[in-house]
Amino acid sequence: MRKIMLMIGSLFILSSCVNMKEWRSSLPEDDFLIIGHRGASAYVPENTLSSFELAEDLNADYIELDVHLTKDDEIVVMHDDDVSRTTEAAGKIKDFTLDKLKELSANRKKGEKIVASGADHEDIAIPTLSEVFEQMGTEVRYVVELKDTEQYPDIERKVVDLMKSYDLIGTDQNGFPKAVIHSFDKEALKKVHKLEEKIPLLQLLSFDEGEEAELSRKELKEVLQYASGVGVSYKAVTPVFVNTMHDKGLAVYAYTVNDAEDALKLKSMGVNGIHTNEPDILGNEKES
Ligand code: G3P
Ligand code: CA
Repeated sequence: MRKIMLMIGSLFILSSCVNMKEWRSSLPEDDFLIIGHRGASAYVPENTLSSFELAEDLNADYIELDVHLTKDDEIVVMHDDDVSRTTEAAGKIKDFTLDKLKELSANRKKGEKIVASGADHEDIAIPTLSEVFEQMGTEVRYVVELKDTEQYPDIERKVVDLMKSYDLIGTDQNGFPKAVIHSFDKEALKKVHKLEEKIPLLQLLSFDEGEEAELSRKELKEVLQYASGVGVSYKAVTPVFVNTMHDKGLAVYAYTVNDAEDALKLKSMGVNGIHTNEPDILGNEKES
């Protein structure tokens, strides 16, 4: 009996390694991915279709977006769980129906109106996740962030189902995962892993100003059970941390980097990519 249990255990470990290898092999070691944080949010209103389109035009490798659920259970794309920072209204997303949210314009930043010139309402309306997938298709790749999941029962399943229905599980013709999920919420990531282990997951980690990134042995062991990498506040990233994660087969992405010098420094440390509001941050230097 013990032998059988050991065999089952080995098979489980092997299958986890195969999945991780699949993800790692899709990220060439010398690659440095540019992830458009909330799209190209330095230039146009964040998390809108116009922001994602601009990020694509600026050759972002991935577009990053944040999701929430409306009162009538629609998955919408917005950073905060409250509409007051980015729209003309106030209140929690979970208390708005989709129709009511669609009346708003997600075109404000820190109280200022920053309507992209020539933008139609549709370009700056709050998009649903399915509208983003529909409009952007598989020409772009996605990093979807699950936020405030305690407010949204079963959002993990809804997001996974939608990704499946848009054929976003697996890799594209260049061998890159078509979509990745990341979150600070490890329980949400574990749920996704149970639902569909082929989706690469990144555990987001935040460190205080002045702190260096690190994971205890226990934390690392836990992350390795479901994640293919980590997303780390960029100031905390050190070469030792990057090497430790790489030795364990975990990719490292740094957020949110809006200065080219910082980006190049992280690249030289071996970081696998950055989240940036300016997908053109490195211009031609990306490949050098
Ligand atoms: O890029 C990582 C990042 O998305 C996590 O922070 O607050 O911008 O969603 P936030
Ligand atoms: Ca995010």
